[in-house]
Amino acid sequence: MRTFLIAGNWKMNAGPTEAAKLAKEMAAGWKGKTFKSEALLCPPFISIPAVQSAFEGTGFQTGAQNVSNQDNGAYTGEISTSMLKDAGCSYVIIGHSERREYYGETDKLIAEKTKKTIDDGLKAILCVGELLEERKSGKQEEVVEKQVNAVLNHLGEDVSDNFVIAYEPVWAIGTGETATPEQAQEMHKFIRSLVEKSWGKSSADKVRILYGGSMKPDNAHELLSMPDVDGGLIGGASLKADSYGQILETAESI
Ligand code: PGA
Repeated sequence: MRTFLIAGNWKMNAGPTEAAKLAKEMAAGWKGKTFKSEALLCPPFISIPAVQSAFEGTGFQTGAQNVSNQDNGAYTGEISTSMLKDAGCSYVIIGHSERREYYGETDKLIAEKTKKTIDDGLKAILCVGELLEERKSGKQEEVVEKQVNAVLNHLGEDVSDNFVIAYEPVWAIGTGETATPEQAQEMHKFIRSLVEKSWGKSSADKVRILYGGSMKPDNAHELLSMPDVDGGLIGGASLKADSYGQILETAESI
């Protein structure tokens, strides 16, 4: 009932020239085909136009990796929701653990960015996830609950149509170590229960919860087969057309 979202996060990789080449390669095999999953790639800001034009006429969508919590004006170095819309983006990744860790993004700022994104007509992919020490001490649910509720409370109203959550255990990002399908399912179910508490069951059933953290062609099937795993947020494996394509094909086959 929920459509898979297969989202690639290119992080700080691929300037316009390389991004255009990679995007063309990715979309080539899917041209003219209709597919039931949503295929999304999130390049660095500067490469968005190049990727957007490479995807023209294909079902592939373009997204951003971050956005400002402000409208416009004197915010040096920031990019606004209206700029992203103008450039053809449909989604924004918000609160990635790398932004929390290296750029000091707080739950409060992340909640503001999420609300602004949705209010301004884009879809938000909110990233949450625990550190290794937090999992080792059994605190993963407590940590994720705090991160999710900070945003749900700030959003207030039900925005389930435009809200996606990505569960990304920090210990699994870029490490080659993946959460087991059971660990992912357990946390996704817990996250859905948090959404249900705020917005009720039918909205909670609508919200897509992606898994992120070393998702690859060889583990995608077991992860995507879990009932509460509705797609992936893919870093490393989305930087190659064939591995991203294989994950997309896997989603299509389920
Ligand atoms: P990874 O990154 O797939 O390289 O682990 C995922 C992410 O950080 O979104």
